[in-house]
Amino acid sequence: MAKKEEFFVGLDIGSNKICVVVGQPEEGDTVKVIGVGTSHVTGLRKGVVTEIEETVSGISEAIELAERSCGFTLDHANANINGGHIHSTVSRGVVAVGRADQEITKNDLNRAEEAAQAIQVPPNKEIIHVIPRQFVIDNQEGVKDPLGMTGVRVEVEALIVTLSQQVQKTLGKCVTQAGIKIDDLIVSPLASAKAVLDKKHKELGCAVIDIGAETTGLAIFEEDSLLYTNVFPIGASSVTNDIAIGLRTSVDVAEKVKIKYGNAYHKDIPEKEKVDLSVIDIKEEGVFSKRHIAEISEARMEEIFKIVRDDLKRLKKDVLLPAGIILTGGGAKLEGIDVLAKDCFKLPVEIGKPHSLNGLTDKVYDPTMSTSVGLMLYAFEERIGFSGSNRTGDMISKVRGIFKTFLP
Ligand SMILES: Nc1ncnc2c1ncn2[C@@H]1O[C@H](COP(=O)(O)OP(=O)(O)OP(=O)(O)O)[C@@H](O)[C@H]1O
Ligand SMILES: [Mg+2]
Repeated sequence: MAKKEEFFVGLDIGSNKICVVVGQPEEGDTVKVIGVGTSHVTGLRKGVVTEIEETVSGISEAIELAERSCGFTLDHANANINGGHIHSTVSRGVVAVGRADQEITKNDLNRAEEAAQAIQVPPNKEIIHVIPRQFVIDNQEGVKDPLGMTGVRVEVEALIVTLSQQVQKTLGKCVTQAGIKIDDLIVSPLASAKAVLDKKHKELGCAVIDIGAETTGLAIFEEDSLLYTNVFPIGASSVTNDIAIGLRTSVDVAEKVKIKYGNAYHKDIPEKEKVDLSVIDIKEEGVFSKRHIAEISEARMEEIFKIVRDDLKRLKKDVLLPAGIILTGGGAKLEGIDVLAKDCFKLPVEIGKPHSLNGLTDKVYDPTMSTSVGLMLYAFEERIGFSGSNRTGDMISKVRGIFKTFLP
């Protein structure tokens, strides 16, 4: 049985599944996965809770399964928040260095980050993350870690991530009702990126696209910093729905057809290969060409990629990502998705999944587990402290007071 003394929990509340990953630190700052629990009961639509009771049941079930797997009770976790209400914007904050000897302290950086939060946020929106991208010390640009340097003036350029207060409150209520205290709430694309990227991706420049069931998350990195994040309210369940309509079958059968025979690149499928629906479900009938199913899947995935590509174009990042596109989330498991993505983005493409862990790796080295593993890793990093040499990157400054809204 695992020991309870020190463990980290990621709780991914998704539209298709709710899952919990428990990790324990090992020597050499690696993490061992000691518990995993997944529930397919969820009350979410497009990444947002629409049914509280179902969501609470799903969270409770996933927690219970994870508890059975690791052998102790869980009462706190890092949780994700997702949905089209999540936006990011760049802001700057400037302060004068406080100490008489002009050495820059943590307090100066905190005050600069606070100053960067002085942006107009609509009344029903709230800031969830302030992520420093770079600091300007007096006139020296591009400073990543100003602690200990000297200067008169500290300026931070930060990415401010905002979300809907209502959505956040409802989600917080569900987690609390399931008996779990939220340590940190982190937007889904950032959590997924944490699990799948390594330093090189972030330094070179890349975009993580998390294709979930009903959302597609985007996180762009450059020079080791988060440049942008966004969530689009469309995902891989649309492919299933299109197959159901196209083959005049149920969503359940269409889902099985997609997973077993689906392909996002129809040109790779010979015309004569067929799928007999009665093999999937004896109550069903009809024989369809695999190429036709691939055409349906490809049309929808192409639409999703175009939405993302338009966003990249708007940011002028559609060509400037040397480490390319990293696809993750369950939608990244669709056959041929990497070929289609290469065609759409004209960039290198990889399928990203959690890696470099120990323990129950067979359960978590899967694109559907990226968010939950990333949340767990954020908790781990919080404990070991972000390495002093890299203040920016994906370091998230917690916004004081945000969690008090979870109190009943
Ligand atoms: N082997 C597979 N082949 C094709 N598609 C798959 C495969 N496995 C899972 N999927 C699809 O991935 C989607 C679920 O992905 P994921 O578990 O990442 O969603 P989620 O995190 O619950 O949703 P969201 O993030 O949108 O709230 C479903 O649409 C499912 O059909
Ligand atoms: Mg997801």
